[in-house]
Amino acid sequence: MVQRETWATRSGFILAAVGSAVGLGNVWRFPFVTGEGGGAAFLLVYLLFVALIGFPAILVEFVVGRKTERNPVGALMELGGNAWKYIGGVFIVTGFVILSYYSVVAGWFIRYFLEGFTNSYTGHLAGYEAAAEEAGQPETVMMFLDLSTGLDAFVFHTIFMALTIGIVALGIRRGIELAVKVMVPVIIVLLVGLAIWAGTLAEAGQAYSYYLNPEFGVIVENWTELLPAAAGQAFFTLSLGMGVMVTYASYLGEDRNLGKDGGIIIGFDTAIAFLVGLIVFPIIFTAGADPGQDTVGAIFFSLTEAFAGVPGGRWLGLLFFGTVSIAALSSAISLLEVVTAYVIDEKGVERWKAALGMGGVIYLLGVPVTYDLIFLDLLDGFADAILLVFGALMLMILVGWIAPNFAIEELEKGIGDLGQLGVAWIWLVRIPIIIVLVVSLALGIMEY
Ligand code: PHE
Ligand code: NA
Repeated sequence: MVQRETWATRSGFILAAVGSAVGLGNVWRFPFVTGEGGGAAFLLVYLLFVALIGFPAILVEFVVGRKTERNPVGALMELGGNAWKYIGGVFIVTGFVILSYYSVVAGWFIRYFLEGFTNSYTGHLAGYEAAAEEAGQPETVMMFLDLSTGLDAFVFHTIFMALTIGIVALGIRRGIELAVKVMVPVIIVLLVGLAIWAGTLAEAGQAYSYYLNPEFGVIVENWTELLPAAAGQAFFTLSLGMGVMVTYASYLGEDRNLGKDGGIIIGFDTAIAFLVGLIVFPIIFTAGADPGQDTVGAIFFSLTEAFAGVPGGRWLGLLFFGTVSIAALSSAISLLEVVTAYVIDEKGVERWKAALGMGGVIYLLGVPVTYDLIFLDLLDGFADAILLVFGALMLMILVGWIAPNFAIEELEKGIGDLGQLGVAWIWLVRIPIIIVLVVSLALGIMEY
């Protein structure tokens, strides 16, 4: 057994957890699932889900990790008995699936980042004029179609996975705790600036009403689609349902206030996603496009449009796509860390070997996505609305019903006596949350 590592600094845990949460889920996935879900109706269901289920669920993952000090597979076995190792096995598979396509999408961000150096966005777009004319599509869409598959996608997937493996192989102390401190403030400042600019666009008003003004009739009518989509997005964006937060909390001392930490993580994550919506929808409406169309590229079309159109856009683009690439890296690290921690803890393999071996297989799994985006849809739909919701549901059952006794006490360490609040948390997990997750999962499977 290798000596278990812990966080190097007191803030290491919260930085890494925010780093895991903030990523492509906020910048790439949130705007397109919101567009597919019809805008404000989706946003409302999603926000409710984050507050009422995401928050209690992140606390469940925290207490499981800190209590057991194990990787998710070991943790579930310790709390639930031997059969739970299969559920833990699902977490590991989820990590494999998500990281394989996550890396491809992250590669797109690196590619668009480099665009700021070479050609500037305007310059490159000019090269797509003829193709755009022929296809009857804007240049920004042609550019995305060109860069998102084929050699470019393959090369940047390779680079991104190599970086991820390298950092995880070096170990949590040297690798993960660094970048996040700079990255989150930079992202927020950039997004606020862009959101203000987007507010000046011609169709901003129409976009705001689409994004912010829900029609309750629409929610009632479409709830069977909205619920699984919102559940999948909430768990994805908060890195829940596959043991990331279990793993990160397993390297943790007893004195941290997990309630406060959970609140901080969710606050940043939600604020960033919300800001992205304030940028993307005004651009899409002003361009006269349909927000539910051409979805996985939405953030790329709309931002190349933006960066080609504002003064200094080239430098803003460079900064934006660069920062998001780093944010994606800190999320990817957390995905590979779960898989690696499992192999280290349970199989006694050295860290660098575990990271390289598992990362290598994940890399290969991602390669087909660089050929055809159909694989992206397949993997993403499966991982989010099914695997993550299933994983979260299992954790709720475990902590709510099978091993409930340690949970409140564990949460109270570093917070103090919670009184009725702790009891309320467990009962929320036990009945309402489990019911909602069962329904979401069933609808998600039917939809898939
Ligand atoms: N939360 C990350 C994001 O929003 C993605 C992620 C999902 C990371 C699941 C780890 C586990 O980009
Ligand atoms: Na996120």
